[in-house]
Amino acid sequence: MPRINIGLSEEQRQGVISLLNQDLADSYLLLVKTKKYHWDVVGPQFRSLHELWEEHYEKLTENIDALAERVRALGGYPIGTMEGFLNVATLREHAGDVPSATGMVARLVEDHEQIIRNLREHVDQSGEQFHDQGTADFLTGLMEEHEDMAWMLRSFIEGQAIEPDGRQPTEEAQTPVGV
Ligand SMILES: [Fe+2]
Repeated sequence: MPRINIGLSEEQRQGVISLLNQDLADSYLLLVKTKKYHWDVVGPQFRSLHELWEEHYEKLTENIDALAERVRALGGYPIGTMEGFLNVATLREHAGDVPSATGMVARLVEDHEQIIRNLREHVDQSGEQFHDQGTADFLTGLMEEHEDMAWMLRSFIEGQAIEPDGRQPTEEAQTPVGV
């Protein structure tokens, strides 16, 4: 491969590539989690949440592609296996249970907030430590999109009491199915 001469050292490029790969892995996990809840959700808010999560996973799919292609543009290779994503991701899966609709929303808010915190850190690192303003700008845009998605989700549960596990106090957890 011809040498990439865009004003970044090898170390700087490798630094941002690994930040981008971590964000890619977390986005992939969030995509899977969002789809699962899009499929599983029941209750009076079914239609709104089912449709909102479809919009969100379409947006996440676009972002995943953009993250992977930016890794390529910087001369790296994106992670492309489920095992690889799980190894690098900071989000955790919740296999084995199906929370209430409100519980699902609360969990996804937590995940978006985790990603926002990571991205905020990565924006600083990209710009200050790795001298890559392009990646800092790109990640800033992604962070704003997650802030928007988190706000939409938070609006569903605003004003309702939430148990630490994300369940509403009056609701029974559903029987685990289809995990
Ligand atoms: Fe669907």
